[in-house]
Amino acid sequence: MNLIFLGPPGSGKGTQARRISHELNIPHLSTGDFLREAVRDDTELGKKARKYMEAGDLVPDDIIIELIEEKFRNGELNNGGILDGFPRTIPQAEALNMMFEKHRTVIDKVILLAVSDQEVIKRLSGRFYCPTCHAGYNYPVQVPRKEGLCDKDGTKLLRRHDDEVDVVMNRLDVYKKQTASIVDFYRRANKLSEIKADDGPDLISERILKLLTEVKQV
Ligand code: AP5
Repeated sequence: MNLIFLGPPGSGKGTQARRISHELNIPHLSTGDFLREAVRDDTELGKKARKYMEAGDLVPDDIIIELIEEKFRNGELNNGGILDGFPRTIPQAEALNMMFEKHRTVIDKVILLAVSDQEVIKRLSGRFYCPTCHAGYNYPVQVPRKEGLCDKDGTKLLRRHDDEVDVVMNRLDVYKKQTASIVDFYRRANKLSEIKADDGPDLISERILKLLTEVKQV
């Protein structure tokens, strides 16, 4: 199954993509994760992407499209997968259609996770992560046992730079100006389903799995 998880920052794309990829046994490909790794490792890609990510702006299309084309070339999407955070612009969506066409496969479903700006700000201002083992925490719902320290290895927890409130406001603005148009792109292609995503993660996973069961039966 080829799935795209779409939605504003903090809508739960990563959380749900991890759960559903585990459930369906298909890979989860997150452009945000690939880019953060490249920035951390200070690769050529990371050097190009850093300033856009820190400001909460989109990395230029040609860089991102090449990143996903490479995943297709490497066969990482041969048996389906979940794309999380890609596409984010019309040129990216058009390029992805061509990639699927070239590999004689199709997008089965685009799932839009719909949440309010207020919920996004609450979730992202509470998010922390462990730089050693990458475990995630979120105040007040998933609090570490010792204040500010990872439960698994005791490392001091950090925040993503782009979770600072001014950057989050820009990310929301960028989503509305540059990414929301692809919602209509996929709606017109009859691929889009919207999921109410401001409840707890378990309920949202249930909604997605129910929807996917219906897709498989069609
Ligand atoms: P990316 O990492 O993709 O950031 P994002 O889309 O802004 O998404 P987030 O990771 O912040 O949120 P999410 O929706 O995945 O939610 P999550 O599950 O993490 O991209 C980062 C940057 O990379 C971009 O700004 C851009 O610069 C660049 N980039 C990436 N892709 C690009 C592209 N295609 N083109 C150009 N540039 C690109 O959840 C968030 C928090 O909420 C977590 O703490 C989680 O535990 C919590 N949470 C999740 N679900 C719930 C729930 N139901 N209830 C309560 N809390 C919840």
